[in-house]
Amino acid sequence: MIIGVIGGGQLARMLAMAGHPWAHRFVFLDPAPDACAGPLGELITAPYDCERALLQLAEQTDVVTFDFENVPARSLEFLAGRVPVYPGARALGVAQDRLHEKALFHELGMATADFVAVAGAAALPRAVAELGLPAVLKTRTQGYDGKGQWLLRGPEDVAAAGRALGDQLALLEKLVPFDREVSLIAVRGRDGAVACYPLSENTHRDGMLHTTVCRPGDALQAVAEAQTHRLLDALDYVGVLAVEFFQVGTELLANEFAPRVHNSGHWTIEGAETSQFENHLRAILGLPLGSTRARGAHAMLNLIGAMPDAARVLAISGAHLHDYGKEPRPGRKVGHITIACPEQGLALPLELLAL
Ligand SMILES: Nc1ncnc2c1ncn2[C@@H]1O[C@H](COP(=O)(O)OP(=O)(O)O)[C@@H](O)[C@H]1O
Ligand SMILES: [Mg+2]
Repeated sequence: MIIGVIGGGQLARMLAMAGHPWAHRFVFLDPAPDACAGPLGELITAPYDCERALLQLAEQTDVVTFDFENVPARSLEFLAGRVPVYPGARALGVAQDRLHEKALFHELGMATADFVAVAGAAALPRAVAELGLPAVLKTRTQGYDGKGQWLLRGPEDVAAAGRALGDQLALLEKLVPFDREVSLIAVRGRDGAVACYPLSENTHRDGMLHTTVCRPGDALQAVAEAQTHRLLDALDYVGVLAVEFFQVGTELLANEFAPRVHNSGHWTIEGAETSQFENHLRAILGLPLGSTRARGAHAMLNLIGAMPDAARVLAISGAHLHDYGKEPRPGRKVGHITIACPEQGLALPLELLAL
């Protein structure tokens, strides 16, 4: 099979690595000529909405997927009828707008942080008066890795955020004093079969994922799975999807979902019987899903900005190093490390955090 991927970043790269053992070939569409998935297939260098490039992608491939959620929905509509595209345009459209995403969560009985819609900076003071502070202001569209967000604690923050927001539509959310952030990676096949990985616990730095620890047997697993199952069915979803939750006491508040393979599921490459990448390919190709069982507890550390010395990492027993082959740049995800935790309940090895 020839698989098209809109986006040629590290997620596309790891999808291709999962597909190569089955002799699948990959065509990536990315505006960057040095997109890091490029060496693993053919790279079409063009904007995501270039019709000529999308036509080429449709003609060259058997099925198309995407590796990030800001692909223009119009590009998927253009591909529809020319080549099967999974996940579909509806899931992408909902995930691209935080208001629609939260509305769907509520429709499905999933609790979220309290929020109000904000129609640009002019509407912000009223929203703040209604919801109270502290709060997080988020643009409805185009946000990722903490971008397009402002933490509001006092009047000065409100004024500064208003200036930055301008006339963009936004949401104002109550700041949640969460105990943990967790994510559920799930996969749904073309036949509606669903499988979920064990919940992962995530920490962020500067709005970006920093560490993930997965200890199978989480007390909230069943609740998270039931909610995510409803979401997958409601979207008639095909492929891997990740739901991010805040845990407050014993309650889960749904924060957002990503209609794609997810950074907090990278541990599945070494730590699960079937990786999230292989399961995404199985789903979009209409193949049986693979077991999502974890081989014990695993942890992942994101490498941001620059790669560490490989010899130092590999000297740590059980550590696996992933280098995306990207140019180092501050704030850029350039790789990650995974490691099996020898005992249940063990935190990420301290040597890794010190890298
Ligand atoms: N309402 C909130 N309360 C507390 N922390 C939040 C809230 N919204 C976002 N955050 C923090 O910011 C991170 C990024 O926000 P998120 O909504 O996931 O946006 P994105 O990942 O698309 O940038 C979250 O993982 C969480 O750590
Ligand atoms: Mg997030």
